[in-house]
Amino acid sequence: MFKGRDVLSILDFSTSDLERLFRKASTIRPGNVLKGKILATAFFEPSTRTRLSFETAILKLGGSVIGVGGEEATSLAKGENLADTVRMLDAYADVIVIRHPLEGAAKLAAEVAEVPVINGGDGKQHHPTQAMVDLYTIRKEVGRIEGLRVAAVGDLRYGRAATSFLYGICKFGVEKLFLVSPSPLRPREEVLEFLKASGVEYELTSDLEKVMGEVEVLYITRIQKERFPDPSEFEKVRGSYRLTPELVEKMKEGAIILHPLPKVEEIDLRVDESRHARYFQQATYAVPVRMALLSLLLGGR
Ligand code: NCD
Repeated sequence: MFKGRDVLSILDFSTSDLERLFRKASTIRPGNVLKGKILATAFFEPSTRTRLSFETAILKLGGSVIGVGGEEATSLAKGENLADTVRMLDAYADVIVIRHPLEGAAKLAAEVAEVPVINGGDGKQHHPTQAMVDLYTIRKEVGRIEGLRVAAVGDLRYGRAATSFLYGICKFGVEKLFLVSPSPLRPREEVLEFLKASGVEYELTSDLEKVMGEVEVLYITRIQKERFPDPSEFEKVRGSYRLTPELVEKMKEGAIILHPLPKVEEIDLRVDESRHARYFQQATYAVPVRMALLSLLLGGR
């Protein structure tokens, strides 16, 4: 079911696949099940949590890490060069995690590589393992995903984490989805089409205050400045929403705030202390979820 698979989009995973992953993540412990296995990281965009939690995950299971990225990244932006790099990593490693500014880069890598390729983010398109972490966090912190009222807030247009989150959460039959953003940052047409086809009830709004008391999960994201084709468009929406303690006060008891991080100015620092804030916990769950994923992909027990 998982062994040898590429992880390109959350859409490729059924709810029973995800349930299996979550069960594994809840019970997995450090050990040597992946002793001798090598994870290659190929990050051509900045990353803190995704790269480091993958590295931590393989190390905790007894494997090791090799990596490329940084300076070389710019000369690798062309498809052909990327394919050559991936060929090399394929020869050296047992699994590859790639992050790249171009949509479809991970898919290209998966076509070239024999070993499993994990998409650690391709442009604005997909970030499947972040969605796995997000869904696992909801399962752990709220107890269920089914039947919840959920708000996705912020840059729903260029945010790959937000997009993958929307795809993922729809699989579990949420009761209602609020899509909260200034209108230029509404989800792309293909994402709205998917939501329509999946039959989930959703509402597009720019009124954050209105949804605060309505939901059990509030998923907020930063504006993806680097993905705006025109910087003046970014200036128009910059600072258009901000979560303050006054807004958080309106939340239901037991409701949680998630954020894929990094957060910039969309969350007032005082909100970090709120009993609703779960984004640091969410980042912590990245390790067991990625341990479970690597273990299943590489056929460990
Ligand atoms: C996200 C990303 O890179 O898409 N970060 C992450 O992996 N947690 C979100 C972001 O950069 O805003």
